[in-house]
Amino acid sequence: MQIPAIAPNPLRFGMRTARNVQPCIMVIFGATGDLTHRKLIPALYNLALEQPLPPQFTVVGVARRAFSDEQFRQQALESVNNFSRRSPASPAVWETFSKGFFYHQLQFDNPDDYQSLAERLKQLDAERGTQSNYIYYLATPPSFYPTIANNLSAGGLGGHNNSGEQGWSRIIVEKPFGHNLESALALNHELNKAFSEQQIYRIDHYLGKETVQNIMVLRFANGIFEPIWNRRYIDNVQITVAETLGVGGRVDYYEEAGALRDMVQNHMMQLLTLVAMEPPVNFDADAVRDEKVKVLRAITPYAEGEVASDTLRGQYGPGMIGGEKVLGYREEPGVKANSPTETYTALKLFIENWRWAGVPFYLRHGKRLTKRITEIAIQFNRPPYLLFQGTGADQMQPNVLSLRIQPNEGISLLFDAKVPGQEMQLRSVNMDFLYGSSFGVEPPEAYERLLLECMLGDSTLFTRIDETEYSWRLIDAIERGWAKMPASALHQYEPGTWGPKEAATLIERDGRTWRHL
Ligand SMILES: NC(=O)c1ccc[n+]([C@@H]2O[C@H](COP(=O)([O-])OP(=O)(O)OC[C@H]3O[C@@H](n4cnc5c(N)ncnc54)[C@H](OP(=O)(O)O)[C@@H]3O)[C@@H](O)[C@H]2O)c1
Repeated sequence: MQIPAIAPNPLRFGMRTARNVQPCIMVIFGATGDLTHRKLIPALYNLALEQPLPPQFTVVGVARRAFSDEQFRQQALESVNNFSRRSPASPAVWETFSKGFFYHQLQFDNPDDYQSLAERLKQLDAERGTQSNYIYYLATPPSFYPTIANNLSAGGLGGHNNSGEQGWSRIIVEKPFGHNLESALALNHELNKAFSEQQIYRIDHYLGKETVQNIMVLRFANGIFEPIWNRRYIDNVQITVAETLGVGGRVDYYEEAGALRDMVQNHMMQLLTLVAMEPPVNFDADAVRDEKVKVLRAITPYAEGEVASDTLRGQYGPGMIGGEKVLGYREEPGVKANSPTETYTALKLFIENWRWAGVPFYLRHGKRLTKRITEIAIQFNRPPYLLFQGTGADQMQPNVLSLRIQPNEGISLLFDAKVPGQEMQLRSVNMDFLYGSSFGVEPPEAYERLLLECMLGDSTLFTRIDETEYSWRLIDAIERGWAKMPASALHQYEPGTWGPKEAATLIERDGRTWRHL
């Protein structure tokens, strides 16, 4: 008798059937800032175009400068025209949608201003039928997160009401969530005075990317991968996030953060957990995040000696990239002349559980590298015996399943094939799936997805506090180790390369090499 496949709850995590957004107001703190301009407003517009938003949906922009509603609408229109994946704005859609945009001037640290904000929201509830449902988006400097949360609470706008009876409130917090474990916990403690964990949506925009969500689908909607997704078949996993850009205009933040905190603590750890997690019992927010946390718990933070052997940091010097002369990191305006901040990091870690025991995960990330690419490569064991010796097979690369997060989003499987002809010659070839050509539609931007999920009250694609906590534990151990290492341990590298040459040693001493991308 054939046993039918068991269907769990209707699949969620990007595969749900139609869901309805309740009427609500999104209050954007930092509405005149860069993030709002480049990401949030274009994302909201694209949601409006695709129509999952109810007609009552309302935006209240909040910031320090004196703007009128009309000025805010004008700025929002410019955001759409300059940064939306679909532009210029459709006059018909914009005409209706922008009527729901309002601006409220407020000083983040002035409690009285929150009284007037509360009154404004009440008035808008009455005018637009938004039923006291509020999402607060903190697109502000991180130092203001606790101040805003506390003032919202004091102004009667936070609260722990998540029952939906008299409206609900949710708060979206941008990265960085803390600077280390201690500050992340302190920030969380402050937020918890005003909002419960269920109301807090910690954003990691990588989780909103289609290709990142597809990691789950690849693993758990297909029968062929899961049986080989473990230590018996996988030799190593390499995660690369390479950027060609330098530090740009984010010097103040970056000088404090560095590559490890900026990229590894959040985005790369999220990629790692999705690749390594066990199948969740269903796709509920907590079921998925429970499994992700288990992965992070299974990584023992580095002991002091291990930091020197298993991690590496670098900083780009001056040079050329793409035919253009570029400044070294220490020459960038605003960077200290002797800045110890790393712009490159590579590390090796192990996930100590049954599935992954003994399989090294190699992570590398850097700025001003030769190529912009984000990729996860699952490298399989070589065949146990090389039958095709002398045919090039001994030089062949092992099979690799590569998940390209960006650009050229897709999945490739590298395997060996016979070169046509009388001789037995072998060559590696690729079996390729490309998102763009397979589906012929442009995927939504990460922020579109994440804003919609928050409106729907689904926190699966947001980071739970314990994920943040375990991830910081690991990062803190590395930072502690680095702090004790001499200045010479910060390796200089030339722009347009794959980082410091010492990074090769980290992997080559294990008899492996970084992928040539
Ligand atoms: N920009 C990005 O691409 C990006 C990417 C990832 C994460 N983030 C995170 O997103 C957050 C916002 O970044 P951003 O680049 O958008 O910052 P930003 O351009 O500096 O904008 C800051 C906003 O906060 C407002 N503001 C600052 N101090 C205020 C005060 N005391 N009272 C009232 N309003 C005040 C500013 O209003 P005025 O203009 O009126 O002064 C402005 O609207 C940060 O946490 C950042 O780490 C940003």
